[in-house]
Amino acid sequence: MSTTNALFGRIQMQHHSINTLIQWGEHLTVEHPEIDAQHKALYDLGTTVYEKWRAGGSVNALRPAVEKLTALLKDHFSYEEQVLTGIGYAGLDEHVAEHRSMLDEMEVVREQFYRFEDDGKPSGGSLLAPGWPVLQLILGFIIGHVSTSDMGYCRALVDSRAAS
Ligand SMILES: [Fe+2]
Ligand SMILES: [Fe+2]
Repeated sequence: MSTTNALFGRIQMQHHSINTLIQWGEHLTVEHPEIDAQHKALYDLGTTVYEKWRAGGSVNALRPAVEKLTALLKDHFSYEEQVLTGIGYAGLDEHVAEHRSMLDEMEVVREQFYRFEDDGKPSGGSLLAPGWPVLQLILGFIIGHVSTSDMGYCRALVDSRAAS
């Protein structure tokens, strides 16, 4: 990576909070209170981890939050898969495959947080530090999955409730 790109990347990282890129709102609801609450909790915790890292938070201190994020994501995917199985959702296999690939991404992020040790310097200053993959993960989860694939089962979920 060239110096110019590195500098550009660093400036972007320091000037953009997640809230300027994506904001939580009604447009992200799948009309299932439990699932909506889980999505919001994942967005909130992911945002907290990224923003703390961006503000120079210690990698060591952020590890428990990353562990919690991993656990919440696993629990959420299992719960959602159970709900979708329960309504006989036609796109289940494809949906589960997306979940698996996001869990793989989460595992990479988790490993990053153990690969980097605190050296007394703010971790937000390094391009190699693990904050960037966290941001990618959150954007991928909300924009790439919740607002598209999860939204795709919303109608089937509402219809199944109306039919029961
Ligand atoms: Fe979901
Ligand atoms: Fe999903």
